[in-house]
Amino acid sequence: MIRYTDSTEGIGPGNLAGFFVGWPNPPSQETHLRILEASGEIVLAIDDETGNVVGFVTAVTDGILSAYIPLLEVLPSHQGRGIGHELVRRLLDVLGSLYMVDLACDPEMGSFYGGFGMRPAHAMVIRRYDRQSGAGGEEHEG
Ligand SMILES: CC(C)(COP(=O)(O)OP(=O)(O)OC[C@H]1O[C@@H](n2cnc3c(N)ncnc32)[C@H](O)[C@@H]1OP(=O)(O)O)[C@@H](O)C(=O)NCCC(=O)NCCS
Repeated sequence: MIRYTDSTEGIGPGNLAGFFVGWPNPPSQETHLRILEASGEIVLAIDDETGNVVGFVTAVTDGILSAYIPLLEVLPSHQGRGIGHELVRRLLDVLGSLYMVDLACDPEMGSFYGGFGMRPAHAMVIRRYDRQSGAGGEEHEG
């Protein structure tokens, strides 16, 4: 069974294996946990049998007007079962009172997000690949 939660309670770095597929310089599992703890809103999908996280989505938000959704990922082993859809649905529900909710994605993902009422818009971004594993908190990296 998959259960969904907005809390990292009971989740350790060891429960966060297998994410950031294809990232050349991914955050460590410790850094991943820090990201989840520092995000304004999160939804986690947890495999009840293992206690491991199998999907997650994050939002950074001022809680007043705007939110940005930087990360959404479901483990390859669990994709195609509706988990990604449920993560986004729950997150957008939490953010439902805000004026603007933005994310940047590849055009192919347009129909996935369009199903939630999102529409295409132009985005400008910076990507510092030397910081892809995370900035700050190096003392936690071990
Ligand atoms: C995108 C992702 C989170 C979807 O998770 P999931 O649990 O497989 O999603 P669901 O089972 O709820 O829904 C699958 C839908 O996602 C669509 N999808 C998944 N990957 C896609 C891709 N690369 N391009 C286009 N559509 C994609 C599927 O076509 C399917 O659409 P449908 O519901 O209209 O048939 C997952 O594929 C993933 O983690 N991908 C790698 C990371 C990523 O691309 N994140 C999004 C960044 S914007």
